[in-house]
Amino acid sequence: MQLRKENILIVDDDINVLEVLQRHLQSWNYHVFKAVSVKEAVAILRDTKIGLLITDLKMPEIDGFELIKFVSEHYPNLPKLVVTGYPSVQNSLVAIKSGVVDYLTKPFTKEELKLAINKSMSISEEKNTSANKSIKEKNEAYGEIIGNSEKINDVIQLIDRLKDNKATVLVKGESGTGKELVARAIHYKGKFARAPFVAVNCGAIPENLLEAELFGYLKGAFTGAESNRNGFFQAAHGGTIFLDEIGNASLAVQTRLLRVLQEKEVIKVGSQKTEKIDVRIIAATNSDLLDMIQKQTFREDLFYRLTVVEINVAPLRERKDDIPLLVDKFLFKYGVEYKDRFIKMTPEALSVLKRYNWPGNIRELENVVQRAVIMSDKVIDVEHLPNHLKYTLDFSDDALEPLKVIEKKYIEKVLRATGNNKTKAAQILKIDRKTLRQKLLD
Ligand SMILES: Nc1ncnc2c1ncn2[C@@H]1O[C@H](COP(=O)(O)OP(=O)(O)OP(=O)(O)O)[C@@H](O)[C@H]1O
Ligand SMILES: [Mg+2]
Repeated sequence: MQLRKENILIVDDDINVLEVLQRHLQSWNYHVFKAVSVKEAVAILRDTKIGLLITDLKMPEIDGFELIKFVSEHYPNLPKLVVTGYPSVQNSLVAIKSGVVDYLTKPFTKEELKLAINKSMSISEEKNTSANKSIKEKNEAYGEIIGNSEKINDVIQLIDRLKDNKATVLVKGESGTGKELVARAIHYKGKFARAPFVAVNCGAIPENLLEAELFGYLKGAFTGAESNRNGFFQAAHGGTIFLDEIGNASLAVQTRLLRVLQEKEVIKVGSQKTEKIDVRIIAATNSDLLDMIQKQTFREDLFYRLTVVEINVAPLRERKDDIPLLVDKFLFKYGVEYKDRFIKMTPEALSVLKRYNWPGNIRELENVVQRAVIMSDKVIDVEHLPNHLKYTLDFSDDALEPLKVIEKKYIEKVLRATGNNKTKAAQILKIDRKTLRQKLLD
C-alpha cells in the first residue's frame, strides 16, 4: 500500500517520543499535528480533519483511554493507533472495546511504525467502504446529535432523507429539545453545506423590523433606511434559512412568507421588483400552530406550505434512555473545560437524573451537569445536584392518592435524601421539627 499525504495527530506527554514520531512521519510526507495532552488533542480534532490518531495511554490528567473513548464516540471512522510503553495494557484495550485497530510497544523501529500505520489505515478503509453501516454508526456520524433512543433515531433517519433536497421543513418540539441542532444537521450534513446557513429568531426581532430584516429594503423605504440593503433571504442564497419561533411572526410577515414559499421570490421593502431566490426554508416552533390557526393568529395556508415535512423532536422525558449518553457528553465537555479532566458521576446521581421529568429538556440537563462539574471536587454525587431534582416525586404509577398519603411519602423521601436528618429535612420542608414528627405519626 502506498503511503499518502494525510494529517496525523500524535499525542504523548513525552516530547522526545513526539519528536521521534514526527521525524519518521514527515519522512513519509505526512502532515503532523502534535499534542502533549488530551485537552490539546481534542482542540486540534475540532479544528482539523485528521486521518489517523496516534496516542500514548499513560498521561497525566486525562489519559489516553479517555481520548480513545471520546474519539470513538465523536469521530467513529477515525483510525487509532496506540503507542505504549506498557505491553500489558493489551487486555485493557480489549476491555474498552473502543475499536483500537493496533498498538505498538515502545521502543519501536521505523519499520514497525510504518507497518502499524499501514495496517491501521487499511482496516479503517475497509470499515468505511462497507455498505452495511449500522444505524448506530450513522447516528454517531452526526457528531453533535447524541442519543440512541428510537425517537432520536427516527429524527436522524429523517435528517438523512432531507439533507440533500430543498423541501421546506417544520421542526416542532418543546423548548430545549434540540430543534436548532436538527436544522443545522440538515444543512451541514447535506450537499448544500458550503452555502450559508442563516438563523433568524422571529421572536427576537421587533415586529416592525422583521419584514425589512428578512427581505431587505430600498433606500428611503422608511425613516432610517439610508441605503439599499439585502435581507436574510438574500444572504442565505443557495443555502438554508432557519426561521426560529415562526409562531411569533406577525400576520403581515406571514403573508409575505407565504408569497416567498409559493413564488420562490422576494420583494424588498419599498420595492416593486421581485427577486428570484433559491433557499431551503426550515422553520421551528414550540407553540401549537393548529391552536393558533383556530385563534386566527396563524395563517392556515402558510401552515400547510411550511409542513411539507414535519419533524417532531420528542421531549427528553419521552426518551430517557438517551440521558446517560448525553450526560457523558456534557461530563466530558465541562470536565475538560473546568477541571482539565474527565469527571465521573455515581450511579446514584445518574438515577436521580433519570427519574426527573426535564421540563427544560436537554438544555436543562446540560445546565445541571455543568453546575455539578463546578460544584464537585472528584466524582459527582447526589449532593451536587440541585434540590428540586432530588426531591421530585415519581408519579409514574397511575394510582391517585389522597394528599395526606402523598405528603407522607414525600416527607419520607426527603428524610431518605438527608440521611434521616430530621433538622435538615424540616428545613427543606420549611416546617418545624415538631410538625414533622406529628405528620409522620398521622
Ligand atoms: N441530541 C442532542 N445531543 C447533544 N446535544 C443536544 C441534543 N439536543 C440538544 N442538544 C443541546 O441542547 C441545547 C439546546 O438545543 P437547541 O438550541 O437546538 O434547542 P431548541 O429546541 O432550539 O430550544 P428553544 O426552543 O429553547 O430554542 C443546545 O446546546 C444543543 O447543543
Ligand atoms: Mg432554538
